[in-house]
Amino acid sequence: MENYIHRRSWLKQSSLALAGLGLTPTLFAKDLDKTFYDDKKFFSPGNTILLNSNENAYGPSPAARKAILDNYLISNRYPDDYIPVLKKKIALHWNVGEENILLGAGSSEIIGLACLHVSKIKGDVITTEPSYKVWNNQASAFGLNFKRNPLPRNGKLDMEKLYGPVSADTRMIYICNPNNPTGTVLDVNDVEKFAINAAKQTIVFIDEAYAEYAQLKTLAPIAINNPNIIVAKTFSKVYGLAGARIGYAIAHPQTIKALSNYQPWPDSNVSAVSVTAAIASLADQSFVQDCIDKTNKAKQLCYDTFLQLKLDYIPSSTNFILFNIDKIAGNFTQGMKSKNIQVQYREHYGGKWCRVTMGTIEEMQEFTNTLKEIAA
Ligand SMILES: Cc1ncc(COP(=O)(O)O)c(C=O)c1O
Repeated sequence: MENYIHRRSWLKQSSLALAGLGLTPTLFAKDLDKTFYDDKKFFSPGNTILLNSNENAYGPSPAARKAILDNYLISNRYPDDYIPVLKKKIALHWNVGEENILLGAGSSEIIGLACLHVSKIKGDVITTEPSYKVWNNQASAFGLNFKRNPLPRNGKLDMEKLYGPVSADTRMIYICNPNNPTGTVLDVNDVEKFAINAAKQTIVFIDEAYAEYAQLKTLAPIAINNPNIIVAKTFSKVYGLAGARIGYAIAHPQTIKALSNYQPWPDSNVSAVSVTAAIASLADQSFVQDCIDKTNKAKQLCYDTFLQLKLDYIPSSTNFILFNIDKIAGNFTQGMKSKNIQVQYREHYGGKWCRVTMGTIEEMQEFTNTLKEIAA
């Protein structure tokens, strides 16, 4: 219900903004209502709780919402004037140069550019199993092969075992830290040491999509000084702008230039409105902290429920948790879906798992209550 209400009240606000501009909001809102809300093609039924894509149920931040409403009329303009402003803000935020940043339509685009770049000479990408895979088909289409080293659930993780051995065929090492879908985190100092060494031979791509949730230090400082290290960041997760499609690479200027050559128009696959939302989001760090705090509370609620139900789970440093559903009879995700809750089914470590994203506290209460019913 929460999602629906948020989306509806957002619309109401946009109507008010239109009214403020002297436009007729009723028709506009009605049309939007019809297109986006009555047509179930675009949104799942109003009361569906979406816990399947690691989005931020609280976003966009109030500042970003205001920026979107204040700026939607610039949609007739190219984003040129806004892009340098965002790059400057990002540069200040991470203490890097503007020449170290490349914007993309989500960090997905940045991963794709890196794959395209390294695939000029066919070879291997080293990653772990499990890890984030959505981009893997694209990489395969570019002619890259995957070497997937097992990611143990427990114990001291050895970087060489996880991401080695680097050979003459290695084109890229993909390190997702914290990792999706396990939610586990590698010691950032180990990653740093390993990346500097491995970058003598290959490109090292460090995906920091969930780093804020783990309060992890960024490896941007090593990326800006090393043409073989790329750090990827996104506004899709803790900043709550998944639908705005905006992410970026932080890298050496030479690498930024190389990656930007694969974009038809460097930096400009992002919309002007999204850029203004990102600028506002970056300035709204209290929202970020609030989301992290609420996510931690939601995780605790889930952990307590898993313990109560004796369900195995992997403690998470992100906004999602992987928990084992081997003990639950029937089709778990379908069961959840029939109660209007969407989660992801996974097969890992020789068993059946569910990856559940942390929604609002109310949504997670609903989730845990439903889980208790289904697991009973
Ligand atoms: C680890 C990781 N990296 C990158 C992405 C891509 O995010 P986006 O393209 O929305 O920035 C995701 C999305 O789920 C992710 O989990």
